[in-house]
Amino acid sequence: MKDVYILGIESSCDETACAVVKNGTSVLSNVVFSQIDVHKVFGGVVPEIASRNHVEVVDVVTKQALKEAGLTLQDIDAIAVTYGAGLVGALLVGVSYAKGLAQSAKKPLIAVNHIEGHICSNYLSNPDLKPPFLCLLTSGGHTAIVRVDDYVTYTVLCSTADDAIGECFDKVARVLGLPYPGGIYVDKLAQNGKATIPFKSVVLANGNFSFSGIKTAVVNLVHNAEQKGETVNKEDLAQSFTKTAVDGLISRLQKEIETSKINKVAIAGGVAANSYLRQEVAKLEKQGVKVFLPKLCYCGDNGAMIASQGYFQFIEGDFASMDLNACPTLRLRAKYEKK
Ligand code: KG4
Ligand code: ZN
Repeated sequence: MKDVYILGIESSCDETACAVVKNGTSVLSNVVFSQIDVHKVFGGVVPEIASRNHVEVVDVVTKQALKEAGLTLQDIDAIAVTYGAGLVGALLVGVSYAKGLAQSAKKPLIAVNHIEGHICSNYLSNPDLKPPFLCLLTSGGHTAIVRVDDYVTYTVLCSTADDAIGECFDKVARVLGLPYPGGIYVDKLAQNGKATIPFKSVVLANGNFSFSGIKTAVVNLVHNAEQKGETVNKEDLAQSFTKTAVDGLISRLQKEIETSKINKVAIAGGVAANSYLRQEVAKLEKQGVKVFLPKLCYCGDNGAMIASQGYFQFIEGDFASMDLNACPTLRLRAKYEKK
């Protein structure tokens, strides 16, 4: 079969990214322009500023991705773009740009779900990985265990009832006075800490997750200590929080491995970069589970994961029309299996 080259464009939040991927797994270029420094001063992403920055760099980033891949737009088979979930203004920049590009170059357009893209970051890192497998999805906006039935069919087995784990890491970082986005700083602090504080489990009786309780518990603990003039051991707090959150995810994952009889596991999303999470998932190998970890460079938002999912939709003939719109609340296009 002829090689297929997909250009993937991502602009759902604060990264403007574009990549060229061959046959769904081979990354020829992966350009990521991060706006983190712009938003850091505000302690979080400012949607309007994000959109304006995407407008300024999307064309430059795309041209750079083509240049680094050594290809021209004419060599590309299709243009894949994130159309949800995310910030509506930010998504619209990528979608409008991709539509213009597809129209002018007479190339097919492919609409990619950001979350499905994150799952595909595993194919970029482990080309041998094939569905079915279970994926622990941990990002800034989503937390779920997903059964990857095939390259384009996903079944959500459980998810969070409230906040996402990444959001929770960022909130913990904020209350500890760490910069945004704080997950990586909490990760570093936790490495020198002990899990001395007993937090309630993040797993609900119905099998879903809840992170709002532990988030509030951490905030209250810090504020109470401040009021009493006491000092909090930040390292121990970071590790206690991380261990409770991650151990909850792993225990649910273990249950899903047992029930589904699928003993292949991957992780995805920004929080998949967390060192304790990676260490604990890797330990499942001792129980005969095959564990796949995405490379750190593919955990956060990037264009390569979008191009990868775009390739599998290309194979299915799943193309979008010029009516494509941004869909900020898009969910996995999956059957939802209720527990
Ligand atoms: O997947 P992502 O880049 O964006 C969304 O699609 O939401 O995830 C971003 C999240 C942020 O909350 C960030 O703090 C978190 O991933 N994150 C981490 C680490 N690196 C990034 N959380 C914990 N430990 C890390 N090492
Ligand atoms: Zn993401």
